[in-house]
Amino acid sequence: MHILVTGGAGFIGSNFIRLILKKYPGYKVSNLDKLTYAGNLENLLEVECCKNYRFLKGDICDAKICQRLIKTCDCIINFAAESHVDRSIVSSQEFIRTNVIGTDVLLSLAKKYKIKRFIQISTDEVYGSISAGEAREEEKLKPSSPYSASKASADLQALAFYKTFRLPVIITRSSNNFGPNQYPEKIIPLFITNIIDGVRLPVYAQGKNIRDWIFVLDNCRAIDLVLHKGKPGEIYNIGAGNYLNNITLARLILKEMGAKQDIIRFVPDRLGHDFRYAINSKKIRNLGFKLKYTFLEQLRLTINWYIVNCKWWKPLKKY
Ligand SMILES: NC(=O)c1ccc[n+]([C@@H]2O[C@H](COP(=O)([O-])OP(=O)(O)OC[C@H]3O[C@@H](n4cnc5c(N)ncnc54)[C@H](O)[C@@H]3O)[C@@H](O)[C@H]2O)c1
Repeated sequence: MHILVTGGAGFIGSNFIRLILKKYPGYKVSNLDKLTYAGNLENLLEVECCKNYRFLKGDICDAKICQRLIKTCDCIINFAAESHVDRSIVSSQEFIRTNVIGTDVLLSLAKKYKIKRFIQISTDEVYGSISAGEAREEEKLKPSSPYSASKASADLQALAFYKTFRLPVIITRSSNNFGPNQYPEKIIPLFITNIIDGVRLPVYAQGKNIRDWIFVLDNCRAIDLVLHKGKPGEIYNIGAGNYLNNITLARLILKEMGAKQDIIRFVPDRLGHDFRYAINSKKIRNLGFKLKYTFLEQLRLTINWYIVNCKWWKPLKKY
């Protein structure tokens, strides 16, 4: 099988590529990535010499380069995206370009070249804030931020390609990922690296907003399952049930790192800040998925990874 991974130099994509090449030595993986500020080829040092792996620098909005790759592959897994909510609040243009137009370029070429599987990597944020209970896959989409609105648009376009052309599209919507190689603007690596640098931890409002945390390799394992056993036209939520509010998360990381609790700094709330995300993951479990990792153990592993890999993240930090 030849898989085209887009955005494979980012956090989840690079973890996914490493997992796939280890698990399926007979598969071929092509990685198309624009190398934006979030893309980093150091995430892939471990596999760069594999003869069944190749990297191509390019933009998913560029139909010419995408066509060259899609012509020869069986499946596409689209991780490529602008992924940071705060940046989408500052300016949404790149979010529309990559997340919506880029996805449409890939879908159109996938249709042209009769791709066997198109996996669109989406997010629980498309459901918007869930005041009680958990969103199922058929829940109405109510995105709040320009980021989640662009992801929801891409989901709808992907589903339209399934309905109109029977393109075998599958969508995954995971909760918040954490783990090694995550860009230090995201909350868990932001807190860990601030603590290492002795900088205070910015927490929005009172820190009461709730997120579900999944270890990145559990999400990658679920995507692998969907790639092999998922049903075209379906959406799969991928959650872990590790619900934590931001202030609890900050205090836990401080405690695990042996730092003083008084370095938390409350900052004005994010505009349009969703209070709570919660997804129901029964459908992916019915497909055979079981979580392998526990939150606290992987949080400790992640803290350790950032302590050991200062060289990776130090050049990315701005204070
Ligand atoms: N990180 C999370 O917690 C989370 C949760 C749910 C869903 N997701 C989704 O998972 C996917 C991957 O997220 P991530 O956290 O790894 O993001 P990331 O920001 O770490 O990586 C994104 C990658 O896409 C590349 N990219 C951006 N624009 C591109 C373009 N036009 N053409 C080609 N490559 C481009 C970047 O260079 C980068 O390597 C995204 O689609 C995101 O919406 C992320």
